[in-house]
Amino acid sequence: MTLRKTRDQGAFPEGFRSELDRLMRLRRDVRRFRRDPVDEAVLARCLSAFLLAPSVGLSEPWRVLRIESDTARAAALENFKAANAEALQGYSGAQAERYAGLKLSGMQEAPVQLAIYCDDTTTKGHGLGAGSMPEMRRYSVVCAITLFWLSLRAEGLGLGWVSVLDPEQLNRDLKAPEGWRLIGYFCIGHPEVTEDETPELEQQGWESRRSALPVETR
Ligand SMILES: Cc1cc2nc3c(=O)[nH]c(=O)nc-3n(C[C@H](O)[C@H](O)[C@H](O)COP(=O)(O)O)c2cc1C
Repeated sequence: MTLRKTRDQGAFPEGFRSELDRLMRLRRDVRRFRRDPVDEAVLARCLSAFLLAPSVGLSEPWRVLRIESDTARAAALENFKAANAEALQGYSGAQAERYAGLKLSGMQEAPVQLAIYCDDTTTKGHGLGAGSMPEMRRYSVVCAITLFWLSLRAEGLGLGWVSVLDPEQLNRDLKAPEGWRLIGYFCIGHPEVTEDETPELEQQGWESRRSALPVETR
């Protein structure tokens, strides 16, 4: 009876909510992939999460490039390696050693790779909301990626976000249209480790996750 009442008020059942919580707890950024292919139907199902995502003014500014050719993949990998080597220069001592030991992309192994862009020039949405804050379009793309990430995890697939890149170089290499802004490069595949509640960066002593959310009151 109580359950029925709750559902009538629009809430999902308790069992669903605890599974949703488990899904969020077990979502990881994945950099270690098995090489076996991803089922295309499953990938398509996960990509359809983009069609459900919120976006400023309903502008749907996400643009997805699937990186398949050896040439494009090699260019992206080289780009990452160069950016990673440059980033290492910004650290010293023990932190440089720790940084050098991190694996920050699965680009060498991941069977599916996507470059996801925001089309800053789109007229879809007629500028609603983006007129005062154009960056809202990019935030919309990030919202969509989060839904995609969770959908993949629900299917037992992992996603790794790669941002250690020179975006201008990548745009040239991938021939991205003028006006598209890189949001990230994404590696997707079956993760080596499937159930882990602790971020890899935390396991490696780089940084730890907060246990409580600070909320200030004004
Ligand atoms: C915008 C963004 C960019 C990121 N870029 C990278 C990256 O370049 N390389 C990497 O290994 N992880 C990257 N990550 C993953 C984070 O390191 C990861 O989310 C964080 O350590 C928490 O781990 P978890 O996602 O497993 O909870 C990125 C995540 C976000 C949201």
